[in-house]
Amino acid sequence: MRVRRVVCPGSFDPVTNGHLDIIRRAAKLHDEVLVVVGANPAKHGMFTVDERVTMLEEVTADLPNVSVGTFRGLLVEYCRARGVSAIVKGLRAVSDFEYEMEMAQMNYRLAEVETLFMTANPLYSFLRSSLVREIAEYGGNVSSLVPPPVEAWMQAKLAERGQG
Ligand code: PNS
Repeated sequence: MRVRRVVCPGSFDPVTNGHLDIIRRAAKLHDEVLVVVGANPAKHGMFTVDERVTMLEEVTADLPNVSVGTFRGLLVEYCRARGVSAIVKGLRAVSDFEYEMEMAQMNYRLAEVETLFMTANPLYSFLRSSLVREIAEYGGNVSSLVPPPVEAWMQAKLAERGQG
């Protein structure tokens, strides 16, 4: 039987309620979901890749068909090596569309890997990790934006930096 195995890739720095919503919905639709953290060298990070993986594992622990990993290099190479048929991405707004469309078309051109877009839950359409980091860094409340363990990780990280 053909296994419908998909990846949910991202920086997840940190994982937000918006990411988790997409991961949960993807897990309902597919046999296996591999959540993979790819470090984007162009983005300034708050958490190490290992920390992001630990947080993702914690917040997806109740989803038996979801596993968490990392990838380096091209996402399509990871997909090819793991027999992944499609990439699942969330689309929040028109502003996401151009960038996501380019990547989706390029990934198809490179390796015929499909991209499936899921529309973001309107509750989270304004949500992105960089805003969450900024709010937390300025002492704002992020409890409605990230899962509770992630809020605790953020507080610990800021305390470690002397910003808590
Ligand atoms: O959460 P992000 O930052 O939007 O995630 C972007 C990510 C990591 C999914 C994307 O940058 C990516 O796929 N990087 C891997 C490198 C790659 O395959 N580049 C070619 C894309 S066409």
